[in-house]
Amino acid sequence: MATPQEKAEALVSVLEKYGQGDYIGESISQLEHSLQAAHQAQRSGSRDELVLAALLHDIGQIIPLEETKEVRMNLSQESTENVGRIGHEIIGAQYLRSIGFSEIVCRLVNSHVAAKRYLTAVNKSYYDSLSTASQKSLAFQGGPFQGHELTAFEQDPLRDEMVSLRLWDDAAKVVGVEDSTPRARAYLDTMVAHLGRL
Ligand SMILES: [Fe+2]
Repeated sequence: MATPQEKAEALVSVLEKYGQGDYIGESISQLEHSLQAAHQAQRSGSRDELVLAALLHDIGQIIPLEETKEVRMNLSQESTENVGRIGHEIIGAQYLRSIGFSEIVCRLVNSHVAAKRYLTAVNKSYYDSLSTASQKSLAFQGGPFQGHELTAFEQDPLRDEMVSLRLWDDAAKVVGVEDSTPRARAYLDTMVAHLGRL
């Protein structure tokens, strides 16, 4: 079984190696997008779990499909009632859970689409502020929350952190700030400490 150090090193390598692809519909790479999200979380003084969730929120899109094969097979066996549409946020959360991240980190990662559905439901100007790509994907993601889904999100103890993560996600699309954005390796120690917490 891999040690926390080995797991964290492997994740940093995955981000660096596979994060070079374009962030869908935007003009920066997935790696830069993830690093900008994490940097905002760190600058806000958030707890480590939220910083890690920001760094890894799109890991379900970045890791090669074969790495998530087992996760996806397990998902397809679960009731669709609980899972709904299988998206990258669910794959990411399940993958992180499988390698030892806390339930809080996994729930935060799993929430970044839900938070968008929440914000578009409660804040009209939020929808207008979204990029065209993000507006387009909202429809596929179920549209703004209504009824019991909206109530459930509002009452979630992690709601404020989920909303923060979502807003950092939206803002993490700045071109040309590589030099002032810490690299993935800067979060290695935080990741090792988290994975070794038990
Ligand atoms: Fe994202």
